[in-house]
Amino acid sequence: MEAQKVTASNAAPAPEQSPTPGRDSLSITDNRTGKKYEIPIKNNTIRALDLRQIKSNDKDFGLISYDPAFTNTASCESRITYIDGDAGILRYRGYPIEELAEKSTYLETAYLILYGELPTRDQLNDWQYHITHHTFIHESIKKFLDGFHYDAHPMGMLISTVAALSTFYPDAKDIFNPESRKKQTYRLIGKMPTLSAFAYRHSLGMPFAYPDNELTYGANFLNMLFRTTELKYRANPTLERALDILFILHADHEQNCSSTAMRAVGSSHVDPYSAIAAATAALYGPLHGGANEAVLRMLYEIGSVAKVPEYIKSVKAGERLLMGFGHRVYKNYDPRARICKHIAYEVFDVMGRNPMIDIALECERIALEDDYFVKRRLYPNVDFYTGLIYQSMGFPVTMFPVLFAIPRTSGWIAQWDEMLLDPEQKISRPRQVYLGADKRPYLPIEQR
Ligand code: CMC
Repeated sequence: MEAQKVTASNAAPAPEQSPTPGRDSLSITDNRTGKKYEIPIKNNTIRALDLRQIKSNDKDFGLISYDPAFTNTASCESRITYIDGDAGILRYRGYPIEELAEKSTYLETAYLILYGELPTRDQLNDWQYHITHHTFIHESIKKFLDGFHYDAHPMGMLISTVAALSTFYPDAKDIFNPESRKKQTYRLIGKMPTLSAFAYRHSLGMPFAYPDNELTYGANFLNMLFRTTELKYRANPTLERALDILFILHADHEQNCSSTAMRAVGSSHVDPYSAIAAATAALYGPLHGGANEAVLRMLYEIGSVAKVPEYIKSVKAGERLLMGFGHRVYKNYDPRARICKHIAYEVFDVMGRNPMIDIALECERIALEDDYFVKRRLYPNVDFYTGLIYQSMGFPVTMFPVLFAIPRTSGWIAQWDEMLLDPEQKISRPRQVYLGADKRPYLPIEQR
């Protein structure tokens, strides 16, 4: 029997050999032809392209792998974020999320995510200076916002206005110029809170509050959202820190739906504002960043602790989802959810206990004991408690996904940067398994 060693370059067949235990390769026998192949394993992964030379005949295109929703396919090599879903571990550039949440700030973490190392004091000062000095947006964006209905969802406004930024910064098209990428990074991280706050103020019919360069990133955002007649906005330090930690927790999460959108759209070499608009749109959905909003709506629908068992019954009957539970990667308690639960109580100490917490705790208690959830390894995810925190801080429900998009911007840019600089990456273009009609002649309308 002929044995073939398949490499990335589709090397010529190797002499017959029986697999040696301990070798980093996979032996495949194609039962259609009886041919054997040996495929290298690197980093516990095989290359899908190595399957291509497995053919049933000369005209065959070659074997491809079918993986709807990419549940078992790595689309890139990455050095940014590490998740061990079984153990409930999340690290940015090697640093555990728990340590960053305790000791870092969002802007420092964003720098780490983007550039791979924690900044020195000078680097951090420079970074904060540049972000702070890119918070203003062109006055025309205000006219743009004025065109939206008073009840327009702020995520819709954010998606549209961040896309519109690309028309203000044509230099952003120069994506392979590191200086240009750096400039767009400052602009995006600086302006996302401003666009978000302006969208919020528009929905209230309130005048826009301009950025205050003397405030921290989080305090400035709160200032643009909530400032009314006071000359200088002063954020409550507990709430400012709570928001900053939530921003750290949301900064990146490797190849999730929105990062995948960022990479896929960015792979066409469009400018980063357009790619971020696509990523923000992906985040908007209730299965992704819109889940925090969906959790709170669910808690209101449940209405009381007494009604939780009835709700859980309908979830188990497949009639609905327990929002804020389950994760594609975490099959254990999401480490971010643990931190969020803790922050919730700190915020309640300042703002008063959110009555919805009792319903949430009862959902969690029942779910963690119930066979349906245990068997499927469904645990609270980051969104389960964030909605309660945001609500207690005074944010309306529609702003919840926006509060996810602002900090995730640093992760999206880091993923985009890594994709652009990876010599193996090309325009994203999956294959399909075509199961539609075979060739057939066009029928004139009167004969159909
Ligand atoms: N409530 C009830 N059942 C669930 C839930 C849930 N929240 N999540 C998953 N299941 C069930 C699902 O019905 C399936 O059951 P069965 O095997 O009988 O068909 C099983 O668990 C496996 O679920 P899946 O849909 O195959 O898992 P997935 O990896 O495709 O989906 C998920 C992951 C997050 C989309 C899903 O768990 C979900 O819809 N959760 C609710 C929405 C949510 O909280 N999203 C926020 C995710 S974390 C923040 C972020 O990163 O965006």
